[in-house]
Amino acid sequence: MKVLLINGQNHKGSTYHIGRILAEKLTPPEDIDEIFLPRDMPHFCCGCTKCFMESESLCPHYEVTKPLTAQMDEADVLIFTSPVYVYHVTGSMKAFLDHYGYRWMVHRPESKMFGKQAVVISTAAGGGMKPACKDIADSCFYWGIAKTYRYGLAVHAIKWSEVSAKKRQQIEKKTDQLAAKIKGRAGSVRPSLKTKGLFKVMSIMQNRGFNPADKNYWEEKGWSTRGRKPWKDK
Ligand SMILES: Cc1cc2nc3c(=O)[nH]c(=O)nc-3n(C[C@H](O)[C@H](O)[C@H](O)COP(=O)(O)O)c2cc1C
Repeated sequence: MKVLLINGQNHKGSTYHIGRILAEKLTPPEDIDEIFLPRDMPHFCCGCTKCFMESESLCPHYEVTKPLTAQMDEADVLIFTSPVYVYHVTGSMKAFLDHYGYRWMVHRPESKMFGKQAVVISTAAGGGMKPACKDIADSCFYWGIAKTYRYGLAVHAIKWSEVSAKKRQQIEKKTDQLAAKIKGRAGSVRPSLKTKGLFKVMSIMQNRGFNPADKNYWEEKGWSTRGRKPWKDK
């Protein structure tokens, strides 16, 4: 099982460690890759909309995002980590997600996403995990990821070294549970009814089509005209 950790921070604090603990319960270290933000993708979306309207390859940051996109596509499980910064994800994580707006189902979703599982992990000193997890889980859902788990934890600490023994026990238990669920679904995960429903609505919309780049993509895949489904694509 290939696991990719996408860290919305450059440092290895509480959030990173929880993600890494989970990753190591899923697969051997050689099958774990890590992206750190902003180190590996230091750009903000400049709002040119070329990705939506023409092609993602016209994004001014395409050469930077291209290898990261390949890493995401290759992984079976994506683990996103972000500390809560003022009740939301880090700016770096948000900037990363903005670069994949073109992959939302309303535009050009990638078939491989419909067979993946994702975990969204966020820690805070006290509060804000729910909105922070939602910031990332929204993209996972609209990309078509089959199953997304959320784990928000108030660590009551600023540093990993300050996280109490009791909290660490909770983390072990929760990551054991998540690992068991993920392994149980590995290889056979299918999108939820909600995802399939949204895909159906999008296929009707794309059949009429208002953006040629998206309309052509859906037609080529056979999703809007031939009733094909990304979760059945080979
Ligand atoms: C800029 C900034 C904003 C923060 N905002 C919040 C917040 O809104 N709520 C909260 O409880 N903690 C907040 N914190 C604390 C961190 O979320 C918390 O310490 C987290 O566990 C750090 O994770 P890390 O060790 O992975 O960096 C903030 C920290 C920073 C640096």
